Amino acid sequence: MQIYLDNAATSMIKPEIVPKSMYEFMINNGTTSGRGSYKRAIQSDRLIYETRKLVASLFNFDNPKNIIFTSNITESLNLAINGILNEGDHVITSSLEHNAVWRCLKTLERDRNINISKIKASKEGFSNPKDVENAIQENTKLIIFNHASNVLGTIQPIKEIGKIARKYKIPFLVDTAQTAGTYPIDIQNDNIDLLAFTGHKCLLGPMGTGGLVINWDGNINPLKSGGTGGDSAYEYQPDYYPNKLETGTLNVSGLVGLGEAIKFINKEGVKNIHNKEKELIKHTLRKLQDIDCIEIYGPKDSEKTVGVISFNIKNKTPEEVAYKLDAKYNIMVRAGLHCSPNAHELIGTKSIGTIRIGIGYFNEKEEIDILIDALREIAND
Ligand SMILES: Cc1ncc(COP(=O)(O)O)c(C=O)c1O
Repeated sequence: MQIYLDNAATSMIKPEIVPKSMYEFMINNGTTSGRGSYKRAIQSDRLIYETRKLVASLFNFDNPKNIIFTSNITESLNLAINGILNEGDHVITSSLEHNAVWRCLKTLERDRNINISKIKASKEGFSNPKDVENAIQENTKLIIFNHASNVLGTIQPIKEIGKIARKYKIPFLVDTAQTAGTYPIDIQNDNIDLLAFTGHKCLLGPMGTGGLVINWDGNINPLKSGGTGGDSAYEYQPDYYPNKLETGTLNVSGLVGLGEAIKFINKEGVKNIHNKEKELIKHTLRKLQDIDCIEIYGPKDSEKTVGVISFNIKNKTPEEVAYKLDAKYNIMVRAGLHCSPNAHELIGTKSIGTIRIGIGYFNEKEEIDILIDALREIAND
């Protein structure tokens, strides 16, 4: 038996219909979208539009054309950040960002002289919206927060932060890599202007899919220029969405798979998915706390976290533990810094990292129990 507990990296197990629909598209259609006028190409257009509508309705968004498909959330975040921030601008972000945000900001700090305010979170990873308000300057042009940390799992108060952003008319960009598909998100009610998502994690879709949902009417400069299938004689990117920011041949088979993944999520219900994961998180946290020499980082309350749990075992390196879990027990977890050095700085694990469990919808309590027994044995080794 193999146990997969690295869902924070990617949801390895997909609903069967996801690969099946991709295979069927490639065998029975296989054409590009937005370019041809023959029957198969029009079918391709229709499939892409259907996925756009599914993404929109998942986030309670009513304008599918303002959804820009990308290859992953890293591209979505780079697109928004590079497209909005100019020379000398100020940006506010959390102290728990993934490198998909942080490296992008550091690069612009070096190349465009931007100014970064990093809001210090509590040790468990909670950011205080008041600190965000206090950090606002006249030249603040963007506020960026992840919805949940990929190291601590901590769910951020995005609705409150978004409210502050709206008050000062500053666009609010949210990284939903660890929440979209497993935690209810309402772009209107949660005051989100720019929602970045990735298809291959909790959305249960394939790798190579992601996007940016634009609920804001300010300017975003394109990251890429190229073919859009229309306006071909015009020598610049067209000025309307999605074509302004979505250029080059789309990953049609991937987006077909993503559409089917969202239909699966709708059928199961995001609330039910969330509740099942919450039960698993509660069970895992309770059992982990029973092992003496384990230090858990992040919230111990399943209401305040997603299925990302970081911990360490006294006198053992994370790599050693992860290696033993895999080699002896066939349990897959991750060890290290998880592409988020700031989060490790906050919890004091920058030099060694952590062991990270990523719980997903297809995990079961029995698998957690096997993990706990294995950890107990490793701890006593
Ligand atoms: C919070 C967060 N942001 C961004 C990313 C980057 O995701 P992707 O590799 O799909 O672009 C991840 C993935 O690990 C993540 O957890």
